[in-house]
Amino acid sequence: MTTIDENLVVRPATEADAGPLISVLAAAFHEGPVANWLIPDEADRRAVYQRYFTDAFHQGLDHGQVYTTSDRTGVAIWYSRLGPAPTPTPADDLARLRAVERIAGAYTPRFMVLKEMFDAVQPDEPHHYLAFLAVDPTQQNRGIGAALLADHHRRLDDLGLPVYLEASNRNNQRLYLRHGYSSGPAIALPEEGPAILQMWRSAPGDDGRTPFPCTKPRRQ
Ligand SMILES: CC(C)(COP(=O)(O)OP(=O)(O)OC[C@H]1O[C@@H](n2cnc3c(N)ncnc32)[C@H](O)[C@@H]1OP(=O)(O)O)[C@@H](O)C(=O)NCCC(=O)NCCS
Repeated sequence: MTTIDENLVVRPATEADAGPLISVLAAAFHEGPVANWLIPDEADRRAVYQRYFTDAFHQGLDHGQVYTTSDRTGVAIWYSRLGPAPTPTPADDLARLRAVERIAGAYTPRFMVLKEMFDAVQPDEPHHYLAFLAVDPTQQNRGIGAALLADHHRRLDDLGLPVYLEASNRNNQRLYLRHGYSSGPAIALPEEGPAILQMWRSAPGDDGRTPFPCTKPRRQ
């Protein structure tokens, strides 16, 4: 049961929030099937995730929209995808590989596989993409994640835009289903990796339509 705290204020994040919010991201994503698959060694994971989420937070500030709560216990990083993704040049691909190598070192191949698999199934239809939603593990199940979702959903509903995300486990899938998302196909990570579920929240008036091929929207 989720209780929404009436006093919880969601606001845009800024560079001044970097330290606390990068820590929230690294801590929230430390456990879980995707984390285990990406970096089995826990100490390595801690070090890589600190660099990975430092980069993700700043990418979000520079190219996306980042929101947090007044107490900085949660963070959501969204991207507006309103047109076709530009086709990367070979130089872009190399620059991306070098950047991931600096962050992930020996774990680069799995980070690259994850990114390529996500990119390959990204819907063409204009939407916002929820890249990361994280709540401090000591503050979870108090409605903070729900508040961050509801805040941006209000903006998107006004704009008439749908949302796409990849849900990494059954627990967070329940949260998204409660917030109007439909489940799509799974992305099966190779080498005994977990399955990640594609999810879509349609725009108001779209009647639950999803962009997923050959699947009927499933709701709980
Ligand atoms: C998912 C997450 C953002 C939800 O934030 P929250 O503030 O705990 O969520 P709320 O209190 O608003 O809602 C509770 C729901 O969140 C989900 N949830 C709670 N703890 C979770 C956890 N550790 N991992 C995944 N989902 C979780 C469950 O669906 C829960 O509902 P339930 O009562 O049916 O179990 C947060 O738990 C988290 O940071 N988890 C780890 C990172 C993650 O999985 N992010 C989503 C990536 S797709």
